[in-house]
Amino acid sequence: MAPTSSEKLTVPAIRARKPSGPKLVVVTAYDTTVARLLDEGGADILLVGDSLGMVVQGQQNTLSVTLEQMCYHGRAVARGARRAHVVGDMPFLSFQVSPEKAVEAAGTMLKEGSYEAVKLEGGAVVAEQVRRIVAAGIPVMGHIGLTPQSVHAMGGFRVQGKGEEAAASLLADARALEQAGVYAIVLESIPAPLGQAITQAVQVPTIGIGAGPACDGQVLVCYDMLGMYREFTPRFVKRYAELGGAIVDAVRDYAADVRAGAFPGPEHCFGVTQPPGAGENTGSRAVVDSDPPRYAPASDSDP
Ligand code: KIV
Repeated sequence: MAPTSSEKLTVPAIRARKPSGPKLVVVTAYDTTVARLLDEGGADILLVGDSLGMVVQGQQNTLSVTLEQMCYHGRAVARGARRAHVVGDMPFLSFQVSPEKAVEAAGTMLKEGSYEAVKLEGGAVVAEQVRRIVAAGIPVMGHIGLTPQSVHAMGGFRVQGKGEEAAASLLADARALEQAGVYAIVLESIPAPLGQAITQAVQVPTIGIGAGPACDGQVLVCYDMLGMYREFTPRFVKRYAELGGAIVDAVRDYAADVRAGAFPGPEHCFGVTQPPGAGENTGSRAVVDSDPPRYAPASDSDP
């Protein structure tokens, strides 16, 4: 069911989806322009994932992403999110060291990153951190299963929770997070039956990525679902567009036009005869009064 209201989605509204639905639609975002499009398309939650280390920065994993970078991208995404709730990943080592450091880092994400909530990886071992952050009035989303910040400990990006013992341990992690006060839990790369068992065992919504259809919502990395990250496509990804190919084709056309002298045409030039009704546009600001500005002005000092 598509959203019927343009009201901002709040944490209580997200929690209320657990019993009644509709399922939560979550997608990652890293900048204003894409955030605006995803919001318009009806995403309920925009997750500024530390996956930005891989899909935006080109790193092998998420470990080098900093708190400052998360805040930078958070502000950008918040400017594009009209209805969607915006949550950001707490980067590696911003919360593991101590509950005190975790509260400070989470607070920085809300104060300087414009986030409405934070997400952190781990189960029972980070329950105290979750409790303390929640006690500070900051909503926390949990994340268990494949937790990419533990990539080296896991021996790679591998499916988790296989076998009875591992499954029981993840179930216990989900319960510990629920008790600590999370408002939702991401379940990443676990067997679908375990995704279902955890979803039935906790009262907070589960958001699956490679965790089967029983979860209360689904999340995908936007570059994956839009077909822009083409180096590797995990099994759990469905591509809803092939923007990667469309971009390559568009640049090929542009290159051919530039090389042939076919672009710019008179309609793209200032001071030459214009087609009737065309205004002169500088790019970042409309020159003609009746043209709407192409880009909304940023409200803070980010470049
Ligand atoms: O960093 C990220 O994008 C994530 C999602 C894949 C859940 O954590």
